[in-house]
This record gives sequence, structure tokens and C-alpha cells, in this order.
Amino acid sequence: MRLRLLTLLPLIVALPLPGFAQEKNGAQVYEAVCSECHGSGKHNAPPFGDKKRWGKLVREGLDDLVPTALRGARKMPAMGGNPQLSDLEVARAVVYMTNAGGGKFAEPTPADATRWRKKADARRKG
Ligand code: HEC
Repeated sequence: MRLRLLTLLPLIVALPLPGFAQEKNGAQVYEAVCSECHGSGKHNAPPFGDKKRWGKLVREGLDDLVPTALRGARKMPAMGGNPQLSDLEVARAVVYMTNAGGGKFAEPTPADATRWRKKADARRKG
């Protein structure tokens, strides 16, 4: 019995991890995907932590920024170029970057992500 428990223990500990890894938080998405351009300001992307560039975007608000991030704009690719991200993960990354630029936005909920996806799809031409 004792042996079996010891054998099972690593499994029990490891089980929740894949589920956790699937949904990334804003910082993780930023590091993995968005920092490629927003870290350096490549293609004139608003750089992370640049309060001057982000100040205007903060005033535009998430209802504008998240749909833009979902559908893309000019050199900003839809979903940051990674369609494997969920809408909520993209939204979290937007909040993470926006707050680093002086915003004070709350963590987005799944309902927020659904609303922003509808807005993004409505904006798409044709
Ligand atoms: C390939 C480069 C690239 C990557 C990767 C990228 N961005 Fe961008 N992003 C841009 C550029 C360039 C702009 C400026 C677009 C413009 O206004 O012309 C931008 C602008 C934005 C804006 C401001 C939109 C607005 O309304 O002006 C947001 C928000 C944003 N990106 C979020 C993200 C998020 C979130 C990710 C990661 C999931 C990401 N970006 C990944 C290039 C990138």
C-alpha cells in the first residue's frame, strides 16, 4: 500500500499541470508571443512599458484594443500571429501590456473575451 501510494504520488502531483499550461496568463503570452515586436518596438509596435505610446491606447480602452489584437491591424498580426492562443489569452496579454503602460484594467473574464471576439468579427471586412 505504501509503495503504491509513493508510485502514484508523482502522477497526482503532475496531473493538474498540463491543464494549467494550456491557459497562459498575460505575462506568459506576452513573453512567448508579443515580446517579439512589443519588446523592441519592431515595425513601430508600441514598446512594452512605454507610457507615452501606451497612454493614448489606455484612453482608447480595452473595447478598442482587444478586438484590434484579435483581428490584427496593419503590421500587427491577428492574435499576435499565433492562432493557437485563445481569445482570453490574447485579451490577458493586452491587459498585461496596457497596465505596464499606465493602465489600471482588471483581469478579463471569459465573458469579456466573447464580447471582444464578436466585436472583432463584426469589424472584419467582407
Ligand atoms: C509581428 C509583430 C507583432 C507581434 C508578434 C505582436 N504585435 Fe501587437 N502590434 C504590432 C504593431 C506593428 C502594432 C502597431 C500597429 C499600428 O497601429 O500600425 C501593434 C499594436 C498593438 C496594439 C495596439 C492596437 C491599437 O489599437 O493601436 C495592441 C493592443 C497589440 N499590438 C497587442 C498585441 C498582443 C496582445 C500581442 C501578442 C499576443 C501582439 N500585439 C503581438 C506588432 C506586433
